[in-house]
Amino acid sequence: MIKIEPDIRHAATPPARLYTDSAIYRSSLDNVFARSWQFIGDSSSLHEPGSVSPVKLLPGSLEVPLVLTNDEHGELHCLSNVCTHRGNLICQTAGKHNDLRCPYHSRRFELNGKFRYAPGFEQAENFPSDSDNLPELQLERWGPLLFTSLNPEISFNDWLGPVQQRLAWLPMDEFLLDQQRCENYTFPANWTLYCENYLDYLHIPYIHPELNQTLDIKRYRIELFKYCNLQLGLAAAGQTAFDLPKSSPDYGQQIAAYYFWLFPNLMMNFYPWGLSVNVVEPLGVSQTRVRFLSYVWQPDKLATGAGSILDQVEQQDEAVVLTSQAGLQSRLYQRGRYAPDYESGCHHFHQLLTSRLNNQTDQQ
Ligand code: FES
Ligand SMILES: [Fe+2]
Repeated sequence: MIKIEPDIRHAATPPARLYTDSAIYRSSLDNVFARSWQFIGDSSSLHEPGSVSPVKLLPGSLEVPLVLTNDEHGELHCLSNVCTHRGNLICQTAGKHNDLRCPYHSRRFELNGKFRYAPGFEQAENFPSDSDNLPELQLERWGPLLFTSLNPEISFNDWLGPVQQRLAWLPMDEFLLDQQRCENYTFPANWTLYCENYLDYLHIPYIHPELNQTLDIKRYRIELFKYCNLQLGLAAAGQTAFDLPKSSPDYGQQIAAYYFWLFPNLMMNFYPWGLSVNVVEPLGVSQTRVRFLSYVWQPDKLATGAGSILDQVEQQDEAVVLTSQAGLQSRLYQRGRYAPDYESGCHHFHQLLTSRLNNQTDQQ
């Protein structure tokens, strides 16, 4: 049981075993990831009825094979990609199809997952039944972004709602995935270290001198919501900022970046040029992959401001996450304390995480 004191002024950070213990890692897969909302893909691969696209939910950890489909009515679905006969994988390549057909014994399914036909089952009793359909997961969409969950502990609206409300003025349907600006980073450290580093802005002046010059760090601030939080990066004088409409609650401020983190492993960083999505995927107790996806809205703003040096900032963050992982292995480190004005995001994350690892309800 790892306890995080709710009052940050008294709280200690998690003990080192949170980052190094395999049993805690396995518990996080069941108690956190299998119950969480996850970014699952992009609607651009599903434009037309008949489009199908195989995906995996958290490849390298949960490894759940799924297939996204656009059925003949233009409705999107997120289905199990495992045949209900003997468990073979059904769809292995993206394309256009009238149905989903298992290559093993040719069982067929509609694009909405309903069983259609299975050769050889003429004598089977009570067949087909509902259990012969492909299980379907809830699929949610915001602009081009698709989200799903195996077994959501909270509603989609409770999860993403604060982001959507804050940025309701953004034309998300105009955001386009730019494959040239997508990158995967894999490194030997625990996934939580990457998240908490993102949520701590005390390190910006020390680790990111270039980013620090684009931001007015004295006016940088963090806002906590129930399952997500926002770091509001204000632009330094003369630096690129959003041209906010009057309908924005932030109208009149020089905002360089909205850094949203959503429990447990998603970052949505909005810049004047568009959106950088970071998905933190656990691969093992000390192995993590972070996927960076860029959705461009105003390409002329790509080269300026806080959002123009993402690769450099990522390398700097990755380096400090690795040295933290090394330090946490030491027998001489126990646990630390939070800097109350700067590390409330980390404290928020640690509370949400440990309450689930302890199988408790939220401590806040
Ligand atoms: S496993 Fe799919 S048809 Fe047999
Ligand atoms: Fe950083």
